[in-house]
Amino acid sequence: MSAYAQELKATAQAMVATGKGVLAMDESNGTCNKRFEKLGIPATEEYRQAYRQLILTAPNLSDYISGPILYDETIRQSTTDGVPFVKFIQDAGMIPGIKVDTGAKDLAGRPNEKVTEGLDGLRERIAEYYQMGARFAKWRAVITIADGIPSRGCIEANAHGLARYAALCQEGGLVPIVEPEVLIDGDHTLERSFAVTDETLHAVFNALYSQGVAYDQMILKPSMVISGKDCPTQASVDEVAEATVTCLLKNVPATVAGIAFLSGGQSMERSSAHLNAMNAKFGNQCPWPVTFSYARAIQQPALNHWSGDSSRVSEAQQKLLTRAKCNSDASKGVYSEPAGEPALV
Ligand code: 13P
Repeated sequence: MSAYAQELKATAQAMVATGKGVLAMDESNGTCNKRFEKLGIPATEEYRQAYRQLILTAPNLSDYISGPILYDETIRQSTTDGVPFVKFIQDAGMIPGIKVDTGAKDLAGRPNEKVTEGLDGLRERIAEYYQMGARFAKWRAVITIADGIPSRGCIEANAHGLARYAALCQEGGLVPIVEPEVLIDGDHTLERSFAVTDETLHAVFNALYSQGVAYDQMILKPSMVISGKDCPTQASVDEVAEATVTCLLKNVPATVAGIAFLSGGQSMERSSAHLNAMNAKFGNQCPWPVTFSYARAIQQPALNHWSGDSSRVSEAQQKLLTRAKCNSDASKGVYSEPAGEPALV
């Protein structure tokens, strides 16, 4: 048992407390720059700091967000007033988290499949992040659906990586967010998404068990069971909610501290509507809190509005808070889209 077991359990529970979810803002410099370039924002450290400050200083963000996931560059940055971001987060009553994987790389001998790297030196990096104030971590594995894939080899390699990472985190005092993302890209059906998510979650929990990971000291960050984005027949909100909850109930032990979904390229409205339907219709069947750990589905309107213009910070923050509140409401099953927001697409 980890020396940190009690602390880990308390942190995991706080991350998924009623009405709260996690805010993913751990885009690597490469991903952040790509999103900036689309909007004509300079891809510099100065602008990345300004954007992350905009997010973290949004007034009363902690009403909806238990903790943000930071990137290595961000966890070392401060506000322009000189307050380290980690201290700012703690003082606002939130828990700092950190992405610790080093990215999804091509899997040898398996064309079009990826394996997530980052285990080398991870024990030492976890110790440094813990010392800096982080209390949870994230590792994202990606599973691609296409003709003949995913292979068993890809699923097992990623499950093994996630489990080794999770065990190291618990040893070092960080709650692991275990994120096996089945990508939405492709023309696959809801049924195929179910089958692949089922096989993936089964392999992940098998590996977590083998590595002695304590389920009550971890958070699962799954993708939803959903039609591929190019599938001609798109499943309804209720179909997605039912298929997703069914797949989770089949695979996720009841002692897991919480489920916090990724948005995965769904529209903001669908991300909220799906989470809401799961809680409103199936909440009483779920043994774990079911909430969000979204990046794009919370950040996108704020990033678009800001577009690097310092005079738009406070309006951009209001847009961020609107999505954070929508998803907080969805985690309680009481969401409805605010008037004036774009229609469900
Ligand atoms: P999205 O919600 O944009 O999918 O991002 C979540 C995340 O953290 C991906 O690793």
